[in-house]
Formats: sequence, C-alpha cells, structure tokens
Amino acid sequence: METVRTVADLRAAVKGWRQEGHSIGLVPTMGALHPGHMALVKASLEATTRTIATIFVNPKQFGPAEDLDSYPRHEAADSELLAAAGVDLLFAPSVPEMYGDDFATGVHIDGLGDIFEGSARPGFFDGVATVVAKLLCQAAADSAFFGEKDYQQLLVIRRMAQDLNIPTAIEGVPTVREADGLAMSSRNAYLTAAERATAPMLFKVIADIATRLAAGGGAADLSQEGLGRLIDAGFTCVDYLAVVDGETLAPATRGRPARVLVAARLGQARLIDNVAA
Ligand code: PAF
Repeated sequence: METVRTVADLRAAVKGWRQEGHSIGLVPTMGALHPGHMALVKASLEATTRTIATIFVNPKQFGPAEDLDSYPRHEAADSELLAAAGVDLLFAPSVPEMYGDDFATGVHIDGLGDIFEGSARPGFFDGVATVVAKLLCQAAADSAFFGEKDYQQLLVIRRMAQDLNIPTAIEGVPTVREADGLAMSSRNAYLTAAERATAPMLFKVIADIATRLAAGGGAADLSQEGLGRLIDAGFTCVDYLAVVDGETLAPATRGRPARVLVAARLGQARLIDNVAA
C-alpha cells in the first residue's frame, strides 16, 4: 500500500486507475482505526476494485473545548492495518495541504445540520461537510463509505453530496459493536474501567425502546423512561434521546422507517449511538 500526502499525488494515482478501468472506493477516517472502520474498508473492497483510505484529523470539526490535541493519532499502526486488509492507497495529508492560509470556504447544511449533534456541537457538521466535500472532490471515487454509528453525519453527507452534485455514491455501513453491545468508537478509549462497564447501557436502552415501539409503545413515554434509566445507570447528562424519522430526523410518524438517536456523557466521554426502529 502506497501512502500519499498531497492532493496532486492522490489525483495522479486515481488518474492511472481510471485509465486501467478500475472502480474506486473511498473510506474517509480520522485514524485510530478499530473494527468499525475496517467494516467500511471491507465494504469498499467488496464493491470496488481499488480502495483509498484517508486519515486526517480534521481541525474544522472540533470545537474550541473539544479534544483536537488529545485525539488519538496512531498512523503507523493504522497504516499496517489498512495494508493488511488490502487497501490500495492511504491518503494522509497535512493540515496545510488541506487548508492553506487563505482557505475561505465552508459548507453548511441547513436544518439537518443544525439539530441534535449540530446543536450540541456548534460548527461540527460544517467542519465535517467541508472536509468530506473536499475529499470527495479530491478522490473523485465512485463510492464513499461511512458508518451508520454516526447516523446524522451519514444523512448530512448524503444531503451535501446531493445538493452539490458530487457524483460519488454515499454508502452507509452498519454499526460494529463490542460483544456487550457498545458501539465501537475511537473515543471509547477515554472510558475508565468503571465507565466502560456502564457504557453498554446506552445501546440496551435504545434497543429496548425500538422493541417496545414495534409493540405499540409511545415514543414520548419511552424516551422519557429511557432518559431516566441512563441517569440512574450513571450517565451524567443526556444531550438527547429521541425517536425520529429515519430520513429527515423530524419526529417519527407511524408507518415510516424510524431511528432512535441518543447522545450522553459518561465521565470525560461523550457517547452517541442509534438503532433502526
Ligand atoms: O466520522 C469521521 O471519522 C469523520 O467525521 C470524517 C467523516 C472522517 C470526517 O472527518
């Protein structure tokens, strides 16, 4: 697996593959890879003949009080994992390569980008949409793969690609979970042993809500009860726990695909998860 660090080198590799008739998949990441990322890689390897993974800890999607400096960075280990999995090219640009001093453009997604994660983390989706728009334009891949773990992010990226006429297909890949149900995330590393034991309650609560909705339970009552269960379990704050429409994230209506979304804080960690309902 070759590693390139400039957009020019990325484009040269893509141009060569296009001339050879390959289809190209893109797996954008911020590194600190875990099996959830490797599921994205596997999906790309199965769907296309050349796979590009990217590692870029994108400063534009971190708020001033967030963990940009301490975000885990393990490029050498990540690179070994990607090569062993069969990735063809790693694109790992520097911050100046992605954002020159005179960088002046931002992408904002009205509505979908302003609720839930968008209101809990102001500027987050602008940063995600801006960097993903750049990566999609740089790589000009046929398909790009994103985890359903960050469900709102997946919808925001789909909306952005559609609105900007970026012809890369945006593919969602199911969440990969630990044996006890905790969704895999690079930020799980922030959990203490005691918090790690409590963390699977997040998935248990939303999975239980999904089951009881299917049995005819009411969304508002179930969400309220679930919130109480999380606080009782030791979560310090629940940013949101909501049953929403699976496409628009508006309040769910019977007969349409729905999603249960949650974000809650446990010690220093902020965990998010979701399930279909
Ligand atoms: O989900 C992530 O890891 C990041 O938000 C992404 C999509 C790579 C953009 O930086």
